Order: sequence, then C-alpha cells, then structure tokens
Amino acid sequence: MPTVFDLIVRNGTVVNQNGIGITDIGVRNGTIMAIGDLGMSDAEKTIDATGLTVLPGVIDSQVHFREPGMEHKEDLASGARAAVLGGVTSVFEMPNTRPTTTDADALADKITRATGRMPCDFAFWFGATAENTGDLADAERLPGSAGIKMFMGSSTGDLLVDESEHVLRVLQNGRRRVAVHSEDETRLNERKDLRVEGDAASHPVWRDPRAAYLCTERLIRLAREAERRIHVLHISTADELPLLAAHKDLATAEATPHHLTLDSRDYTTLGTLLQMNPPVRDISHQKALWEAIQSGVIDVLGSDHAPHTLEEKAAIYPGSPSGMTGVQTLVPIMLDHVNTGRLTLERLVDLTSHGPNRIFGIARKGRIALGYDADLTIVDMKENRVIENGAIASKAGWTPYDGKHVTGWPKGTIIRGMRVMWEDEIIGEPRGAPVRFTEGWTDPISARNGL
Ligand code: DOR
Repeated sequence: MPTVFDLIVRNGTVVNQNGIGITDIGVRNGTIMAIGDLGMSDAEKTIDATGLTVLPGVIDSQVHFREPGMEHKEDLASGARAAVLGGVTSVFEMPNTRPTTTDADALADKITRATGRMPCDFAFWFGATAENTGDLADAERLPGSAGIKMFMGSSTGDLLVDESEHVLRVLQNGRRRVAVHSEDETRLNERKDLRVEGDAASHPVWRDPRAAYLCTERLIRLAREAERRIHVLHISTADELPLLAAHKDLATAEATPHHLTLDSRDYTTLGTLLQMNPPVRDISHQKALWEAIQSGVIDVLGSDHAPHTLEEKAAIYPGSPSGMTGVQTLVPIMLDHVNTGRLTLERLVDLTSHGPNRIFGIARKGRIALGYDADLTIVDMKENRVIENGAIASKAGWTPYDGKHVTGWPKGTIIRGMRVMWEDEIIGEPRGAPVRFTEGWTDPISARNGL
C-alpha cells in the first residue's frame, strides 16, 4: 500500500538544515510527514516544483499593520495579503496601534480581528510601558503573544520606555527575549534642531549613529544586570556591531532589507519615502551590515513594514511620518541579493526561517523537518521581474523599490499545507492562525493531538 498524503510537493530544490537538494515533501494534516523520494506515494493534491526552489516558510518578525486605529493606511487583512503575495507565511505585528497593544484585552482584540481575515499566520508583540511592567510576565505567555516590545526611542506613536529605571523593570519582568527599538531618546531630543525643513537627507544627521550606539550600549548593560535576553531590532549602524558581537550570549540582532539595499544617496530621488527610524544611512553602514550578515552577528531579517499613505509622506520634512512598506518585497529583494552573490540561499533561510525559529522559540515553524507545520515559500530563482507600486497590496500602495529590476520571485506560499498564494494570486478564504511558542503559549488541543 503506498502512503497517501494530503499534499506532495514534488521535485523541488529544497533548502533546509541538510543543505540544498532535489526532493519531495509529503504533508498530512498540515504537518510535514515525509521528506525524500515519494515517487511511490499518492496524494490528494500535488504541486510540481520542478525547476523551483522550496524554502521553509519565511517568517517576518517585524511588521506594523495599523489595526486598530489607522486602517486608512493598512489593516490586518491587507497587510497579511501583502505578506502572502510576497511569500511570507507568518508575521509578528507591532504594538504601536491605536489603542496600543499594552493590555491583555487589546491583544485578545487583535487575535479576534485577525481570525478569518488574515491569510497568513500571526503573533502580536505586546508593548511595554512604564506603567504595565507588573503585567509583562503574564502578557508574554498569552495566546498569540510574540513577546514584549519596548521602544527606547520614540518613533511612530507614543510608546516609549526611556528611563533606565523603567527599562530595567521591563527587563526584570518575564523571561522571553525582549525586542527593542534602540535609539537614545535624550540625544534625539537634544539634536532636533539639526532637522532641515524640506530635506529628508537630514534625518540620519538628526538620528545619528551615536544615538543608536548609546542606546544599545545602555540596553546591553541593563539586560546584563537583569540577566534577560534581548533582540535589538533594525540595526542600522556599523558602530553597534562590535558591541552586539561581544554580547551574543544575551543579544540577538535584526537587519532589514532597506538598510541592506538603500543608502543615503537615495534621499535625492526618494525624499521622505526613504524616511525611516532608525534612518537609512551612508554606504559605510550598509557595508558593515553586509559584513555582519556574513559573520553571523545578524540573526534575523525583518521587513519593519511600516506603511504611511503617499499623502502623509508628501508633508514637508520633518512633518512627514517615518516608515515604508516592506513585507511584500522582503523575499524578492533578498533573492535578488542571493542572485548577485551577496549571500547564499542557505544564509537567507537561516535569517528568515531557522533564525526566527531558534531565537524566538517558535513551535513547529521555521524548518522543513518532520513534525513541523508545512509552511513553504516556493520561489523561482530565475524569474526576472520589475517591482512596481501597482502590484503593492498594502493600502499605502507604494514601495521605495518601484521600478527596480530583480531576479528571483516568490511563486507560491503554502501555509500548514494549504496553497494560499500561487503566481501572484491569493487562493481560498483567510485561514491564518496564531503562532505558538515553546516558552510561551502552546495550544493545548493541538498539543494533545500531537500536532
Ligand atoms: O520608521 C519607523 N516607522 N520606525 C518605527 O520604529 C515605527 C514605524 C511606524 O510604525 O511607522
């Protein structure tokens, strides 16, 4: 009797912990049940992946989807559609919505809103404030919680924990890794006059490398005191990298596609569209970030998808908001970097799947391995495409990469064995579910069923 699967992905070039090789993947009940030659096995559905590359589902651990409160620029459904069109299978969404995700009710509300509307799987970061430190140990274990996020420098919204005493209290409550936006608030306030009206190129002058360095240094000191693991988001400076390398027992780090792809010369053409916190800086910082990709100091990539409308972005700097779309372009931009030889496909998988699985303790996601969710990002490494605003599913409707030619494109997005996107079309009803974590919440029903 041949083994029967719900789905077999046949003959794809699979990239996983074993390296790269052509093989089949058998899926039952949304779970990877077999990897190898399944030529003798049948399945209800088959995907012929001949000539295509099969990656573990890409996990974007930093997106801002704006719901509730700012649905004119994004909502959970539109952001998640952009994700699956871009080959992303799970997103961790940020707490600077209105209201902020800073209590259990707000988190539960996001899960209710997401259910039946988001086509990708999801978790929500819980925002730390000076007032809610006593709740954080419980909050990080709630269903759907990605853990605690702390803004040490202010960005979009009013979430801020900048005094050391409060930062320490956040770090002393709970045990999961705390994600941090690291820019020194005092220095940002002192340097506000350096912003030049109408000139977004002055953004990295105001929010300078020293602001990031000072904050990351203080954060590491406080994390050491609290004996708490931290995750430093969107690293943008060469200066922070030796510091992070010296504290790898404690600190993990994220890089973003925009800091790896764009640089300060692009302010001339993009103006406020390039305005982001922390800023896109001169090429020397980008070079150092690529070295940190090579050396392993960077653990994961996050898009920091932070949509604002073109009308909002048209305001005169510094009245313009910081942020750009990114969740849909993360995979194509990074595949293009693979094709130009800037990183290997294995390292990309390490950054977008194995890395998130390892540092956030994600249950059953981030690897093509038996017993894992059948989350797959199927890509065509040879496809030449032009990234265009017209194809951007975000409500913001634009990308800083409009007009850019890339080689390598997401062909299909498979989530728990379901084909959710194929050839730029979203398929089926939205069936996204909360991501589970080994140290936080695990769904008891799934656990009981051995799923
Ligand atoms: O530029 C940014 N925009 N950086 C952030 O940290 C927040 C984000 C947003 O929410 O707009």
